[in-house]
Amino acid sequence: MKQVKTIGVLTSGGDAPGMNAAIRSVVRTGIYYGFKVIGIKKGYNGLINGDVEEMSLRSVSDIIHRGGTILQTARCPEFKTEAGLKKAAAMAEVFGIDAIVVIGGDGSYRGARDLSKYGVNVIGIPGTIDNDIGCSEYTIGYDTALNTVQDAIDKIRDTAYSHERCSVLEVMGRHAGYIAINVGISGGAEVVLLPERTFDINKDVIKPIIEGRNRGKKHYVVIVAEGVGGAIEIAKAIEEKTGIEARATILGHIQRGGSPTVRDRVMASILGSRAVELIRDGAANRIVAVKDSKIVDYDIDEALDMKKTIDDKLIELSMILAL
Ligand code: ADP
Ligand code: F6P
Repeated sequence: MKQVKTIGVLTSGGDAPGMNAAIRSVVRTGIYYGFKVIGIKKGYNGLINGDVEEMSLRSVSDIIHRGGTILQTARCPEFKTEAGLKKAAAMAEVFGIDAIVVIGGDGSYRGARDLSKYGVNVIGIPGTIDNDIGCSEYTIGYDTALNTVQDAIDKIRDTAYSHERCSVLEVMGRHAGYIAINVGISGGAEVVLLPERTFDINKDVIKPIIEGRNRGKKHYVVIVAEGVGGAIEIAKAIEEKTGIEARATILGHIQRGGSPTVRDRVMASILGSRAVELIRDGAANRIVAVKDSKIVDYDIDEALDMKKTIDDKLIELSMILAL
């Protein structure tokens, strides 16, 4: 790898609160260490199209508290093709970008790994509200999303209590149930349905609700992860089979926006800074991650092979506490 003079930074995949704090950290740490920093707009699309802009200390002023990403983000199917990768690598050369900090999820890392084969140094930072990145126990935006969902559950509980109803709440997580299981516990849900587990409507939903009623419960919260889906149908089935009035709420993209929590701002700042330090120290093609609450980094291939799963103890705990 040649010596890096110019660092690019981009956000890719779904946006997540705290991405701006990470961009700010990459830009300011980069400039502090003497690098030129270039912002690449709309994920890999911006690299392919040359939609880039030199960042200054002031271009990242007043963004630490803002959700979304000032660089914007996108999904870029062209980047999955050899032609797209070649165009991107050629454009990196045009702008003298030697290394790129990619803020995104596993999909974005796959793209980064493919780009690295064309001689561009890539460093990944975990950014997704889903917390579904195999190599890292923490991802930027997850904490904010959890708190957004928690706020919604608390509001929904008020009305569920008043009407003695069952509220069925669908939360994000197309492939992963980290949001669902954690807000299930923090929100005191009776039932949590995860994409990682198959479920039976009678055994896993109707039975615990009726047993809860027999123990004196009068209102109920059911959390359904997006990957399970069918919140409206599940609410209908609950009403038909138990006689308890049920209402479904699909929280949707409200979970992706909003001002990042302190944790997301601080972690994004630390991760962004570490990515630049790795480049300064001559490292190439690595993912910055969190393991046992410490900042670590892995070779990108190794990171992409890593898997994580929801702890069975958490699922058991959510059921015990629903008694
Ligand atoms: P995330 O990074 O949040 O997992 P995606 O899976 O949507 O989000 O990936 C973001 C982008 O990364 C895709 O639109 C594409 O440009 C790129 N990407 C994803 N998977 C690959 C792949 N297998 N090869 C090359 N690029 C990929
Ligand atoms: O950011 C993660 C996530 O919210 C997933 O839970 C969801 O499946 C997906 O992104 C939806 O993203 P979009 O609506 O942008 O396609």
